[in-house]
Amino acid sequence: TTGDLLDRHGRVARDLRVSLTDRCNLRCHYCMPPEGLPWLADERVLTDDEIVRLIRLAVHDLGIHEVRFTGGEPLLRKGLEDIVAATSQLRTAAGETVRTSVTTNGIGLARRAAKLAAAGLTRVNVSLDTLHPDRFAQITRRDRHADVMAGLAAAADAGLAPVKVNAVLLRGTNDDEAAGLLRWALDAGYRLRFIEQMPLDPHGSWQRSDMVTAEEILAALHREFTLVPRPGTARGAAPAETWDVVDASGAHLGDVGVIASVTRPFCGDCDRTRLTADGQVRTCLFSTSETDLRGALREGADDAVLAATWRAAMWGKLPGHDIDDPGFLHPTRPMSAIGG
Ligand code: GTP
Ligand code: 5AD
Ligand code: SF4
Repeated sequence: TTGDLLDRHGRVARDLRVSLTDRCNLRCHYCMPPEGLPWLADERVLTDDEIVRLIRLAVHDLGIHEVRFTGGEPLLRKGLEDIVAATSQLRTAAGETVRTSVTTNGIGLARRAAKLAAAGLTRVNVSLDTLHPDRFAQITRRDRHADVMAGLAAAADAGLAPVKVNAVLLRGTNDDEAAGLLRWALDAGYRLRFIEQMPLDPHGSWQRSDMVTAEEILAALHREFTLVPRPGTARGAAPAETWDVVDASGAHLGDVGVIASVTRPFCGDCDRTRLTADGQVRTCLFSTSETDLRGALREGADDAVLAATWRAAMWGKLPGHDIDDPGFLHPTRPMSAIGG
């Protein structure tokens, strides 16, 4: 319909990613400095009601089918269960339920997984880069490995399936863990995806040579596993390319994904739009500009005006990013404030 979020490159946004806070209880080296970042002032952060209003608009008027909650760390948001419940009750124009998911570091998930499932949450993606508690403490600067493991187990118990695990490999820290993480994930029944490290770190110290590439990760996995590219599935709008893992007799053991944002960008298939915790539309993780919805919302704009503003923003979405080009422009906000 004419209401959809189209851009001039022929893409349609169906997937809304909502950042609920820019704060986090970990300090991953590739994301935040030890002291944290200058957090958004409370009054700039959208209230639960404002968030639900914008999500309802996106679903009813803009063709959004799926909503993922991110952060910072979305579990730090007390109203998460209520926001999930309100979102899960929405229906698309075609009468379908809205799929809801959370991308979390897993801290505190053990206590909340059942409540989130009861609120209607469909899935969780949990970040975990290492199986070693000491390395976890080194990467995240917090000794919370056990909390994440408990959170993962609780998510599976609560039926939030499939539970996906996101792992970033860092050269010299955990880059020997590709096969070990996969063995563990296959045993536990989690869907593991490796993510190439993107230049979204707070100090701009990312170096291409430090990044563990999809090619390296796949080479390491091929040494220990038989991987079969997912038959017939183009990656489509999902960022991960997927391989089935089979044993010597060809029996299916599970799968593994690689999100190669840097070496194999998937911008041409992107179906996302983003809302930051302070109510700005971002058309892309790498946008260098944003469109303010909070101001209009708080000045009493009606849905038609807000929808038109969002559509206009999306129309200008850039065809892609140039991470791998020397001229790449970093977004002005860190990833934790954009919402991965
Ligand atoms: P599902 O496939 O629906 O489970 O989720 P997802 O993989 O899209 O979401 P998740 O939040 O788990 O993100 C996994 C990784 O993909 C993170 O490192 C994200 O930053 C990265 N990612 C998510 N969206 C984009 C995007 O639009 N562009 C790029 N380059 N990377 C993205
Ligand atoms: N590059 C790639 N992935 C990142 N993440 C955080 N920062 C980066 C980065 N610079 C990952 C987290 C989490 C997901 C939301 O994004 O590890 O799994
Ligand atoms: Fe927190 Fe995720 Fe950033 Fe780590 S990567 S500090 S868990 S927001």
